[in-house]
Amino acid sequence: MLRQTRARWLAGATAAAVVVASAAFAALRNLGGDTAAKPAPPGAAAAPTAAQAAGRAAFERLKCMNCHSVAGQGNPANPLDGVGARLDRAALQEWTLGTGRAAGQLSAGAKRQKAVAVGDAELPALLDYLASLK
Ligand code: HEC
Repeated sequence: MLRQTRARWLAGATAAAVVVASAAFAALRNLGGDTAAKPAPPGAAAAPTAAQAAGRAAFERLKCMNCHSVAGQGNPANPLDGVGARLDRAALQEWTLGTGRAAGQLSAGAKRQKAVAVGDAELPALLDYLASLK
């Protein structure tokens, strides 16, 4: 009789332990799953926003990397690393399009190639991306 009681108790305790362990496992998995939603630790590069990601896509589509590099990708002649810290948004736009103050400092060829970005629907996102290069 005592043995049976103990066996039942053990079975119940084992079942409870399994439930607790799987709940803890699921909780840990969930913790690991939403790291993207957590603020980045200080010093870590922030995850790109949707606009910055769209801007990066436009940067590649508009062939900016024929003449520019970012993080070692593209033409190393004119790196754009840190350009978001050097230039405000108006200057970023002028240099991107080859207009305004930038026009006088660029070759005709560079201006011609930059002109493909004029009127592009993704221009605001492209400027967001450039501004994020700090
Ligand atoms: C034909 C070559 C060429 C192409 C293509 C080109 N650029 Fe440039 N860009 C230049 C040159 C040359 C400069 C002036 C040198 C410099 O500052 O890096 C410049 C300058 C810039 C600057 C200012 C950099 C700084 O540090 O002051 C930005 C921003 C820029 N370009 C963005 C773009 C974007 C965005 C595209 C794509 C739409 C693009 N460029 C396409 C040649 C090009």
